[in-house]
Amino acid sequence: MSRHNKKNEPSRRGFIRNSLIGGFAALVGRSASAKTDAIAPLSVPSWSKELGSGTVNEPYGKPSVFEKHVVRRFLPWMFPTRQAAASFTPLQDFHGIITPNGLFFERHHAGVPKIDPAEHKLVIHGMVDKPLMFTVDDLKRFPCVNRVHFIECAGNGVLEQRSAQLNLLQFTHGLISSAEWTGVPLKLLLNEAGVRKGAKWLLAEGADAAGLARSFPLDKALDDALVVYAQNGEMLRAEQGYPMRLLLPGWEGIANVKWLRRIEVGERPWEMREETATYTDLLPSGKARQYTFIQEAKSVITTPCPEYPVLNKGQQVIRGLAWSGEGKVKRVDVSFDGGRNWQQARLTGPQLDKSLTRFEIDWFWNGQEALLQSRVVDETGYVQPSLKELRALRGVNSMYHNNSIQTWLLHPSGEVENVQIG
Ligand code: CO
Repeated sequence: MSRHNKKNEPSRRGFIRNSLIGGFAALVGRSASAKTDAIAPLSVPSWSKELGSGTVNEPYGKPSVFEKHVVRRFLPWMFPTRQAAASFTPLQDFHGIITPNGLFFERHHAGVPKIDPAEHKLVIHGMVDKPLMFTVDDLKRFPCVNRVHFIECAGNGVLEQRSAQLNLLQFTHGLISSAEWTGVPLKLLLNEAGVRKGAKWLLAEGADAAGLARSFPLDKALDDALVVYAQNGEMLRAEQGYPMRLLLPGWEGIANVKWLRRIEVGERPWEMREETATYTDLLPSGKARQYTFIQEAKSVITTPCPEYPVLNKGQQVIRGLAWSGEGKVKRVDVSFDGGRNWQQARLTGPQLDKSLTRFEIDWFWNGQEALLQSRVVDETGYVQPSLKELRALRGVNSMYHNNSIQTWLLHPSGEVENVQIG
């Protein structure tokens, strides 16, 4: 077994170290006071001696001031500008399977447009009997569906393809989020327009300054594609496509076109920029895979992780997230010895189609070095590959769709480090 060392580029290392120390200090403090409280009579804390703040203190409520560290983060050196960039969601601080709207990861190609919903329109045209135009209010008059689905950027884990690079879970896996979406099945809208015989592909175009557009097959549109206007009970956030976006459940983030303004029906793909120059997968043969839409099954341990080390030896609950763009998660196994032995984890909470799924497993840590991994199997029988297996398949130049097994090296100190084995 050989371990590939991370490149310790100074700017990255400094950033990561600061985050780690902050998180660790906060945790140790909480743990110590919890123990004291358990054995001493309850004192009366200051907040029990005075009136609290009144209702509508915050007209739009915010998390507790003690949760200020739970924020999206950005890697300044990774993108030339904030308008063509990504922000990463704090997976290490989440519970359950829903991402709060203010923490949903972002990816923009020309910034976030400020769209007046009264002015915005969606057009369906091309190979249809009757071209149609919809306002947001028009969409709301159609029967709607509510579904929980994840959206994952095809580039989630992009920097980890060749070697372990980033020593924080937020940056290794934080380009995935999940929400309850409300919208209209695209099939209903296409039926209104009447798709002509011979049509096989659609083009979805956004109203941002990039005019970001992607082709996708008609089969997906007729299967489970949605035009959504709401996210976790409120209208979409501006950065998630307000006032309407395309949702292609389980498919790479970029195909879920935001600020949706046009759907064209045609016979073949349009070969747009973001499906030719980028978002293709270069193979060792020199050929590139194109239109690789599906985010295949993937999982990661979120407790512990580099942000939240193990504080004490002894009994632990190891927790994580699993998902599959092909359907439901069937089982998750966890290894504590770098993949030699596996134990089945418990799935906690709902196992929904193309949705984040929680797992956990009990473990007694004797304080020795351990290599923690999780491996998901989805309902199609697909097994999450090791890094070695993925590289054998696609080489090291394929940037997107890295769904390989993550390894966390647990040091005797309790610190957790992103490593690669194989
Ligand atoms: Co792809």
